[in-house]
Amino acid sequence: MSEKKYKIGVLPGDGVGPEIIVEGLKVLDAASKKTGVKYELINYDFGGDRYLKTGEVLPDSAIQEFKKLDAIYLGAVGHPDVKAGILEKELLLRIRFELEQYVNLRPVVLYPGVWTPIKDKEPKDIDFLVVRENTEGIYCGIGGAFKKGTNDEVATQLDVNTYKGVERCIRYAFELAKKRNRRKKLTLVDKANVLTYAGGLWQRVFAEVGEKYQDIEQDHAYVDATCMWFVKNPEWFDVLVTNNIFGDIITDLGAMIQGGLGAAAGGNINPEGVSMFEPIHGSAPKYTGKNVINPIATIAAGAMMMDVLGEEETSSLIDSAIRKVLSSGKIKSMSAGKMGYSTTEVGDLIAKEI
Ligand code: IPM
Ligand code: MN
Repeated sequence: MSEKKYKIGVLPGDGVGPEIIVEGLKVLDAASKKTGVKYELINYDFGGDRYLKTGEVLPDSAIQEFKKLDAIYLGAVGHPDVKAGILEKELLLRIRFELEQYVNLRPVVLYPGVWTPIKDKEPKDIDFLVVRENTEGIYCGIGGAFKKGTNDEVATQLDVNTYKGVERCIRYAFELAKKRNRRKKLTLVDKANVLTYAGGLWQRVFAEVGEKYQDIEQDHAYVDATCMWFVKNPEWFDVLVTNNIFGDIITDLGAMIQGGLGAAAGGNINPEGVSMFEPIHGSAPKYTGKNVINPIATIAAGAMMMDVLGEEETSSLIDSAIRKVLSSGKIKSMSAGKMGYSTTEVGDLIAKEI
């Protein structure tokens, strides 16, 4: 354990964000009291409500402040009264881009005691990591519209892939497959049979970086087929690496096979800088304030934050507590309103287990 006092920025955000962050912090507090990890929390109220009041999403000064933190813990963003695209692009994506969080790490884990819609699959079959490129691709916002609103409208959205961006992401994925030491397999997911320029770059870099990882099995799958195999043979996967948009899409499917978005955590990682951890679900406005949302994804994101900070003991303490509570079978479903417990009670159960 490090003697350091971490500075953790907390962005509860919109909708159910504040409710789940409270539970995440509750569990983090219980675990760090046991292990002696010290941190200070700095709260930020960025999100839809503040934007509606002030017209400001995220001032430049906030980005500068974030760069001085050790990590960011995020609830959710998205507000029903704010036009889609504003908070997503100016808050979430802006942080990912400006802090160069070039990996979006999304574990797909079926916890013991959790129901999966895939018949005959067990926790040992659904346990893999998706490494999603997080700063490029069609997310970078390059493109435009011409003759908008007419029958001649033209819309373009450019898929940007740089050697630097692809290389660092693939290298991270190889290192992860090595460190994880499970199946020692990395699967490159693309659509190189059609997107030959972008796919070609990814494939060449994969082979080039892979030279140094001869003990890692190097596999390839097209993204459409990957969706099929997530359902049919999820046990084939260990670590996958893919671009931004494919990673976005396949991890929603991944969340479903692990029992629901209530269990799916993600980390926006800059291995050399400040990383941000969040549940991969959205702000779920219809459940706001009802104390029914599942906080486990957020709690698991807190465990991931500790792991990335190098506090493995605190991280595994949280992970084991989640597993113990779930394998007891007390929690009936991962879905909001169907857990058999409130948001607060689920947080309490996990904190108590610690
Ligand atoms: C996610 C979300 C975001 C994304 C949205 C809200 C911009 O879907 O984190 O997966 O597309 O990356
Ligand atoms: Mn998504």
